[in-house]
Amino acid sequence: MGWPYLYMKPFEWIPGLNLGIEMIDSEHRHLFELYNRAVFANDERFERDELFQDLMDYAHKHFTDEEQLMESAGYPDLEPHKSLHRSFVRRVESLRSSPDWQVLDFFHEWLFRHIMAEDTKIKRFLDSRK
Ligand SMILES: [Fe+2]
Repeated sequence: MGWPYLYMKPFEWIPGLNLGIEMIDSEHRHLFELYNRAVFANDERFERDELFQDLMDYAHKHFTDEEQLMESAGYPDLEPHKSLHRSFVRRVESLRSSPDWQVLDFFHEWLFRHIMAEDTKIKRFLDSRK
């Protein structure tokens, strides 16, 4: 989806990112696949509208699942985490008419800042209770 990304390799899922809850982990892996497809699929196969639809479907299903997990586990930072999810939805909506590179920059940042940084805190919390 554009030359700035050509030097990068697709993101590979690593076991350290697993929270240990298969449903959540498979949803996270799906987001990695979505990103890799958007960046590395050849342009004829990539559909921008499809990406937005997939992201909104992901947000609806996955955030609900993850928030339920945090709630039932008594995760202390539930509210701030929920507000990050709400901001994802608002940001995706605001990017609908933005250039492709801005969409992908946000997507890339979400993988790093949210899935790799914020969501792994949930795992550390769950592990600390074992
Ligand atoms: Fe999250």
